[in-house]
Amino acid sequence: QKAIAVMTSGGDAPGMNSNVRAIVRTAIWKGCRAYVVMEGYEGLVKGGPEYIKEFGWEDVRGWNSDGGTNIGTARCMEFKERWGRLLGAQHLIEAGVDALIVCGGDGSLTGADLFRGEWPSLIKELFENKRISEDQYTKYKHLNICGTVGSIDNDMSTTDATIGAYSSLDRICKAIDYIEATAYSHSRAFVVEVMGRNCGWLALMAGIATSADYILIPEKPSSSKDWRDQMCDIVSKHRSKGKRTTVVIVAEGAIAADLTPITPDDVHKVLVDKLQLDTRTTILGHVQRGGTAVAFDRILATLQGVEAVNAVLDSTKDTPSPLIAINENKITRKPLIESVKLTKSVAAAIQAKDFKKAMDLRDTEFVE
Ligand code: F6P
Repeated sequence: QKAIAVMTSGGDAPGMNSNVRAIVRTAIWKGCRAYVVMEGYEGLVKGGPEYIKEFGWEDVRGWNSDGGTNIGTARCMEFKERWGRLLGAQHLIEAGVDALIVCGGDGSLTGADLFRGEWPSLIKELFENKRISEDQYTKYKHLNICGTVGSIDNDMSTTDATIGAYSSLDRICKAIDYIEATAYSHSRAFVVEVMGRNCGWLALMAGIATSADYILIPEKPSSSKDWRDQMCDIVSKHRSKGKRTTVVIVAEGAIAADLTPITPDDVHKVLVDKLQLDTRTTILGHVQRGGTAVAFDRILATLQGVEAVNAVLDSTKDTPSPLIAINENKITRKPLIESVKLTKSVAAAIQAKDFKKAMDLRDTEFVE
């Protein structure tokens, strides 16, 4: 009987609970034992029944409508060190777990693949140091890993959507709708900063959905002078046609072409100094990440949870770790490490100021 564990890692994202629910229930339905690792990789490093818990069917009842992640998450530094991964391997074996599904962003999934790659040497070391028995060494020769992508940022290459991105987008749009009402009343300008780390997807999509006047994203920077002039031209044009509101959305990772960050304060200053607009700034912050998931994320997370269990059951020691994606409305499997590599090369292209390449890479479909 296979024992499949699931953990959530990195920043929480709406829909993670639906993913865990689906994984637990599918595992049980397929005759496996289901486990959850509490507090992300931190729980693996700490180990024991408090952190690696067997879950039953009823333990995930009602989780579709819960925001955040009920099994906890963390950005764990210890797991970045070999000694942390060694402890993680020991604790999984002690709990009798032989497959791990990680729901998280690119950092968490890189950690997962590294863990799998290192597994043979980790268990050898554990055996040689008598931290696991010979029986355990033979039984747990191989660890199956699978990734599902949970992140509000929608920044993972090879998948059209990450779990949580549409919920966050919905929250941002609602917040901007509220802002519009007060902006209209006072004829004010608002600068709204949204999350997304190095990815402008949330800002861009929110801008389209709320018909913002101007959007600043990391993938399409212009020179410091250019964005200022262009923004002022557009805003002035809108104002001259009688528009009472101005909304400028700034992605938290927005940069100018020389890679200097563009902050909400920079934008605020331009609107005041150059256009004399009565301006306010709103940093939406973690409100964007909280709250319940929209139906799309619940469905995506559920379908991907089912597929993750199927992928784990299909895996052999020679199969590359899969990442569960969605492409053109179909749930798909991609090689996890290739997807992570592609995602990291977007960031590298931005650092190299090759913005066109960054945009192209974001759209790249990994071909097996
Ligand atoms: O990756 C999700 C995310 O919300 C990013 O958009 C943001 O930059 C970051 O996490 C914030 O992290 P923390 O919750 O640790 O402050």
